[in-house]
Amino acid sequence: MLAMLFLTFFVGCTHRVNIVAPAENMGRPKYEAFAKNSMVTSQGEATSRAALSTIAKGGNIIDAFVTASFTISVERPHSTGIGGGGFLLYFNTVDKKVYAFDFREIAPVLATSDMFLTEDGKTQPLLSQEGVFAVATPGLVAGLYDIHRRFGKLPWKDIIQPAIDLARNGFPLYEQLYIALQDRKHILSVDPEAKSTFLLNDGSVPKMGTLVVQENLAKTLELIALQGKQAFYKGKVADAIVKAVRSKRGILTLKDLRDYRMKERLPVSAAYKGLKIFSMPPPSSGGIHVIQILKMLEPHNLKAMGPQSTDAVHLTANSMQRAFVDRATYLGDPDFNHVPVKELLSSKYLEKLSKEIDTKKALRADTLKPIALPYESSDTTHFSIADKDGNMVASTQTINGWFGSGVIAQGTGIILNNEMDDFAQKVGAQNLFGAVGGNNNLVEPKKRPLSSMSPTIITKDEKPFMALGSPSGTRIITCVAQTILNSVEFDMPLYESVAATRIHQQWQPDLLKIEAPYLSSHVEKALKERGHNVVHEKLGCSIQAIKRENNQWTGVSDPRGEGLALGN
Ligand code: DON
Repeated sequence: MLAMLFLTFFVGCTHRVNIVAPAENMGRPKYEAFAKNSMVTSQGEATSRAALSTIAKGGNIIDAFVTASFTISVERPHSTGIGGGGFLLYFNTVDKKVYAFDFREIAPVLATSDMFLTEDGKTQPLLSQEGVFAVATPGLVAGLYDIHRRFGKLPWKDIIQPAIDLARNGFPLYEQLYIALQDRKHILSVDPEAKSTFLLNDGSVPKMGTLVVQENLAKTLELIALQGKQAFYKGKVADAIVKAVRSKRGILTLKDLRDYRMKERLPVSAAYKGLKIFSMPPPSSGGIHVIQILKMLEPHNLKAMGPQSTDAVHLTANSMQRAFVDRATYLGDPDFNHVPVKELLSSKYLEKLSKEIDTKKALRADTLKPIALPYESSDTTHFSIADKDGNMVASTQTINGWFGSGVIAQGTGIILNNEMDDFAQKVGAQNLFGAVGGNNNLVEPKKRPLSSMSPTIITKDEKPFMALGSPSGTRIITCVAQTILNSVEFDMPLYESVAATRIHQQWQPDLLKIEAPYLSSHVEKALKERGHNVVHEKLGCSIQAIKRENNQWTGVSDPRGEGLALGN
């Protein structure tokens, strides 16, 4: 087991900042890298190496993005995979444009708004979290294929090869995968393919370090390498996916797969402290709320208050809380319901919100009852890449919960997502992450469930400045916002910006969550006196960030995780 060491760090000699130290035996060099040419930060060692090797072979940043996406699908099968979906933000130095691509899963055509409710209208959380009804139409392969067709340079089949090799040759079972297997073995052990791939004959989890080989997945990836996206959306792989779902009376059809389309979106953006922030628009809530939090805080002089000071933490928590009220009220798939993006990000509205924040008291603390989260996990994945020309990508990808729905398409190695849980089962209901859903996020055929994934790119004078993102459900939004605050507002070095203590407040439950290594005890006491319901809790984020400074790249992979920052 990895024991986390905590230490206290001094930044700028004026304010003490608590940061989490790297996991034992691994050391800071694994998580922090500096390089002149290219940089990759991801949650998987093999993935960071594979993405960099694609660039070394003459590939461009989109080739590296495709390699990283397929390889991380193999290396973190509990978090992401070709049975899921995701988002990409891409800064292209040639046209100085930031592109946003949405390859999020969509609800099957036969889905209905009451499909998860009992006859008397009660929600059934497990139905959207485990098994065939949890499965939405996967979008990852279509996204990667279409983005590569438009921007890639190396042949498609060459850039998938590292993922095929990793699936076939295997890798040693590591801690987070081991924990996820322990948690989901009750589902995986009843599926013959999942059992033979990930578990021992008696259904128990193999020892750490055991080789994890995914031969069927290697074969599926080989087909995709040869035939492109139709190898996934038509033919025998599609048949196997539909059979896995329909044999248990689920609703995914061949037509759902055949009709899946990736979408290009306009990123949300805002000026912030001389920089320009670009992030994922709806159907993600992430970008809007990262920007809202930062813009609500901009008029306050947080820097003078000091990082991790009572005043700065109090204001940050209140801004988070306020942003999450909007998430529950307005956000959803913009192709189905009007999402007032412009209004939510207008200076007038943000000024109003900023003024609403009580500088001394917690917001609404006494009018809301804490509601416990049903489950916490650190799945989903994020990686960031930058190249020698200044191009950057930030991509967050997921099958949602650990091992998604737990449904495997026999013979293909594909683990199907449980993204249907990101819809609201009914107005006001909470999902796996405690997120409250509104009318705009009810299930509808072909609709994309609301996401919190926040791949973010920051530029300065149209030049690259930063790329970042994280897994961990609703906490993604607050973890990304805090990393930007630490780096830009508080001028912390990138490593400390990522490793610093984080807080999370998402309106409901009305809790101010503080993660190890925590804040100083007098700050916590003062926050409680202001009405914050302080709890200590693991937040599960794993920030993967890259920053341009001193004419080179700094890359940081969150020291809370098992990733790797690697440059050349
Ligand atoms: O799109 C979303 O917001 C979620 N499906 C992300 C899930 C996630 O980050 C899981 N990690 N804990």
